[in-house]
Amino acid sequence: MSTRDVLRVAVIGGDGTGPEVTAEAVKVLKAVAALEGIRYELVDFDLGGQRYLRTGETLPRSVLDELRTFQAILLGAVGHPDVAPGILEKGLLLELRFSFDQYINLRPVKLYPGVETPLAGKGPDDIDFVVVRENTEDLYVGIGGFLKKGTADEVAMQTAVYTRKGCERCIRWAFDYTRKRNKKRQLTLVAKTNVLTYGHDLWWRTFQDVAREYPDVKPDYNHVDACCMWMIKNPEYFDVIVTTNMFGDIITDLAGILQGGMGVAAGGNINPEPGGVSMFEPMGGSAPKYTGKNVINPIAAIAAAAMLLEHSGYPQAGRRVSAAIQRVTGTKMKSQAAGRMGHGTRQIGDLVCEALGD
Ligand code: IPM
Ligand code: MN
Repeated sequence: MSTRDVLRVAVIGGDGTGPEVTAEAVKVLKAVAALEGIRYELVDFDLGGQRYLRTGETLPRSVLDELRTFQAILLGAVGHPDVAPGILEKGLLLELRFSFDQYINLRPVKLYPGVETPLAGKGPDDIDFVVVRENTEDLYVGIGGFLKKGTADEVAMQTAVYTRKGCERCIRWAFDYTRKRNKKRQLTLVAKTNVLTYGHDLWWRTFQDVAREYPDVKPDYNHVDACCMWMIKNPEYFDVIVTTNMFGDIITDLAGILQGGMGVAAGGNINPEPGGVSMFEPMGGSAPKYTGKNVINPIAAIAAAAMLLEHSGYPQAGRRVSAAIQRVTGTKMKSQAAGRMGHGTRQIGDLVCEALGD
């Protein structure tokens, strides 16, 4: 919990529809801050595809140093049609996650009232779990290389790195989170111990060790393939999942669609240490074809702002935003799909602001 009395947030609108959805999240942040008496400072940062095309920079050192002085970052989206895949992802998004050691990627999977799920016969009571994804290791470290590139004998290697420290801090955080969430008090490790007999053996042993410190939390295990099946068949089974970076990336897209898709799903890249800089983002991409049309769904970005408040020491304000979101999805929106919401992007932001007072 923060003792600082001014909430300093760096805002990176980014590419495509990123700035539009971020603007609505900022609108809601300002409105809830006024209601809750929160003092804040918001500073915009120009990062993303446009800047890269203009200057060749993705994340200059000076900007990184400046960002370090903030409590939290609100990120819109990165991804530009004129920039080759991987450049912004690696140079900006992953660089931020790694530089600030945001070792938790927290992805709540909650079906809000009024939101359609593709799962027949399932409703908000059935789809309410959280994925805790390790966010600094695994295949994401970028270790590997080519041999005889471009020839018929080409070899490519990409190494997954797992460390005791890296998995232990993530697993311990997940146990704590499961305890605090206080629902089923069940933490499911999702891995592939039957094939990844080194890396996931380390995860498995560490999970068993840490579990002993939490006798009030039920430790549970799913192989990742089975987890995908259960998530569709019985999503109500899950409470909290803890998993590796790569598997977490994949299963949270699957989970995201269960909660209504990319217009709704939000995530936090959290450094839980004192003074850590955390970053919150809608999970959807930059959706270039919808840019500037006032049709994109800002709910995910607003939900990211709610997470930002909750994890920056303002849990009451965070809950207030979540409640307002649910009132709007439950009573005002026709759909969560871009262009079919029954309102424009800015109107949804206004509706959430109005609902804060209810
Ligand atoms: C996500 C995204 C990123 C990831 C990409 C854009 C690098 O898919 O946040 O899940 O793989 O982590
Ligand atoms: Mn992903």
